[in-house]
Amino acid sequence: MTTTRKCAAVVVGAGPAGVAVVGNLLERQLGSIAWIDPSFESGRVNRKYREVPSNTKVSFFQSYATSLQPFRTIIENTPRPNAFTTMAKLDQEKTCHLHYAADMIRGLTNGLVKMEQVYAYQGFVTAATLSSRPDQAKWTVRIKSANEADELEIETSRLILCTGSHPTNLPVPIPGLEIHSLDLDTVLKPSLLAETLPTTKPTTVAVVGASHSAILALLNLVTLAQSSHPRLRVKWFTRHPLRYAEFMDGWILRDNTGLKGLAADFARSQLEENVLATSAAGKIVTKVDCAGGEAKEKEMYRANLPGCDYITQAVGFTRDPLPQLVKDVGDEAKPLSMEFDHETGAFHETAAVGDGEKIPGLFGAGIAFPQRVVDPYGNVEYAVGFFKFMKFLKKVVPSW
Ligand SMILES: Cc1cc2nc3c(=O)[nH]c(=O)nc-3n(C[C@H](O)[C@H](O)[C@H](O)COP(=O)(O)OP(=O)(O)OC[C@H]3O[C@@H](n4cnc5c(N)ncnc54)[C@H](O)[C@@H]3O)c2cc1C
Ligand SMILES: NC(=O)c1ccc[n+]([C@@H]2O[C@H](COP(=O)([O-])OP(=O)(O)OC[C@H]3O[C@@H](n4cnc5c(N)ncnc54)[C@H](OP(=O)(O)O)[C@@H]3O)[C@@H](O)[C@H]2O)c1
Repeated sequence: MTTTRKCAAVVVGAGPAGVAVVGNLLERQLGSIAWIDPSFESGRVNRKYREVPSNTKVSFFQSYATSLQPFRTIIENTPRPNAFTTMAKLDQEKTCHLHYAADMIRGLTNGLVKMEQVYAYQGFVTAATLSSRPDQAKWTVRIKSANEADELEIETSRLILCTGSHPTNLPVPIPGLEIHSLDLDTVLKPSLLAETLPTTKPTTVAVVGASHSAILALLNLVTLAQSSHPRLRVKWFTRHPLRYAEFMDGWILRDNTGLKGLAADFARSQLEENVLATSAAGKIVTKVDCAGGEAKEKEMYRANLPGCDYITQAVGFTRDPLPQLVKDVGDEAKPLSMEFDHETGAFHETAAVGDGEKIPGLFGAGIAFPQRVVDPYGNVEYAVGFFKFMKFLKKVVPSW
């Protein structure tokens, strides 16, 4: 059965970005907000990364949670002890495991879904159609319920995509080579990793990459080899030197791409060129230097990948598939081809030359749709992190 209703905004996704968007929209008091997610359980950080150490200080999670009046009201009205009181007791200047952050997001979600202006619907947004009217955009959003039995249609003038990203999966660097793929998410969860890899036979895992995910993958594999899996070895394929975040005068160089926290400590003390040969990690990890261009990289894989049992590719994140987005053009529905505007959170139609026309009423946030930032040296990065999403949203949501 299909039911239809009207709302001031539809927010897709209930990870840290979706929660921040709903909070910001509530502060603007636009009217009712429909909020759609299959589970309302804090997104990927809860599903996959509870055991990952954060690369941001606890105080940034706190700042996220206390940035908005609706959030502060939820915190005041949540029976104690709760995720917020637990977070408040941690050392604010240190990092923490992400289960604390995931539980904090869950606490905010539980409060938001009970608010009168919020209509939370457990389901999956499958499609949305834009019919342009001269006065205002109208989106008709189609949603399948979690049990797939019901369909809901919502009409709105604002559709906000906070749909998240997943680890990028590239083809095995040597086509046809028999090797098992070891999912990055599994390697980032030590309890699952320990169950997945054999303990009794010699096993070699290839790890590709040198950013946060790759370094934590190395750390987790080394820790396992030093305890329950003594026959485990690692080959580390990297094409650039280790890069760290650096505190400058009032700003951070490589704030979004450089290593921080536990990953930075481990990399500096055990993986750097001058320490790897003698470090404890060096007994487990063999570095394969793939720098020097595509031909050299291929040669290094050909020489070193055969013989590895597993490969983990820690090569970044890719947007999750979006709902099917179309535009009504007369009697026809035309698929929207679009580009995200990293300055405003809006979208433009893809144009052959220059910026295409702005797509009315469509916005994005979170790891899939982050803000573009330029540091004082002119380096361009994308701002990914709980408090970074919040800062961006506070700036742009008033114009949505
Ligand atoms: C390993 C790792 C560690 C990180 N550590 C930190 C850290 O320490 N500190 C920090 O500040 N940031 C960290 N980040 C960055 C970032 O804050 C997180 O990735 C964050 O969880 C992203 O939130 P999100 O809401 O954009 O996406 P997600 O958490 O992926 O949430 C997206 C949600 O949308 C839902 N969804 C998708 N499509 C649909 C649809 N069609 N209909 C309905 N629902 C849909 C999904 O089910 C999901 O619930 C980390 C990222 C990674 C990958
Ligand atoms: N809490 C934590 O500690 C933690 C852990 C993991 C992730 N995160 C967060 O999650 C987000 C994603 O981080 P990420 O580390 O997964 O990815 P990332 O920061 O997007 O970096 C991707 C890396 O993959 C490399 N790469 C891409 N293609 C490659 C290839 N074919 N071969 C070898 N290397 C390749 C890139 O190197 P080039 O520059 O050479 O292309 C880059 O260093 C970030 O916001 C990060 O802060 C946090």
